[in-house]
Amino acid sequence: MQVPDIIIAIDGYSSTGKSSFAKIIANEFSFLYLDSGALYRGVTLFAIENGFISEDNTIDVPALDKALENLDLHFGKEGTYIGDRCIEKEIRSLAVASKVSPIATVAEVRAFVDRKLREFGKNKRIVMDGRDIGTTVFPDAELKIFMTADPLVRARRRAAEMEAKGDKTDLQDVLKNLQERDYIDSHREVSPLTQAKDAIVLDNSEMTMDDQMDWIRKIIAERFGC
Ligand code: DC
Repeated sequence: MQVPDIIIAIDGYSSTGKSSFAKIIANEFSFLYLDSGALYRGVTLFAIENGFISEDNTIDVPALDKALENLDLHFGKEGTYIGDRCIEKEIRSLAVASKVSPIATVAEVRAFVDRKLREFGKNKRIVMDGRDIGTTVFPDAELKIFMTADPLVRARRRAAEMEAKGDKTDLQDVLKNLQERDYIDSHREVSPLTQAKDAIVLDNSEMTMDDQMDWIRKIIAERFGC
């Protein structure tokens, strides 16, 4: 399938399989895949390690904002990096997951991440997943998908993913973390998680990856005549 030079924006709730879907799309259409959540997770790890966020999630915003000026957060060969340190494993931990939503409410953090993300859009042919890609980062993206799925289905998927990596999990804890993140992500003041008016909804509670790929191929063929 010869897909034209477009930006594909995939937004939606946590653990709806956005990144798995986006990676397979990128692979099939020879697009670059970008995980915007990884940058929020990277800033969160940085904030935890440097004491900018407390146990009770109080954030020292002026200090964090100042420190961001010198934060070399970027994508590299093995995923996400701070300088030459690969942080891919740490940013997927529950410790980071439980603090990332509060960090992502900070306008200064969002501005920092947005600047990095927009750089990638210049040459199109990217598929980026997140919460505000179709609404804020790339409001002119040619194809916007909004993903959703039943919370329990999502919690089971996330728990299985964590267990596969050797992390101990409790389904109720995972579900609770997921629902808390959904709430914070959709109720924050700056760029809340909302469906863009021109986004197409994909509820994949009962869909396999093959079903989802058939779904998107059909949409691309209809919309772009390829
Ligand atoms: O997709 P994820 O679970 O890795 O995202 C981690 C957190 O980052 C999520 O709870 C909300 C935040 N996020 C965001 O606010 N905006 C984005 N574009 C991507 C992620």
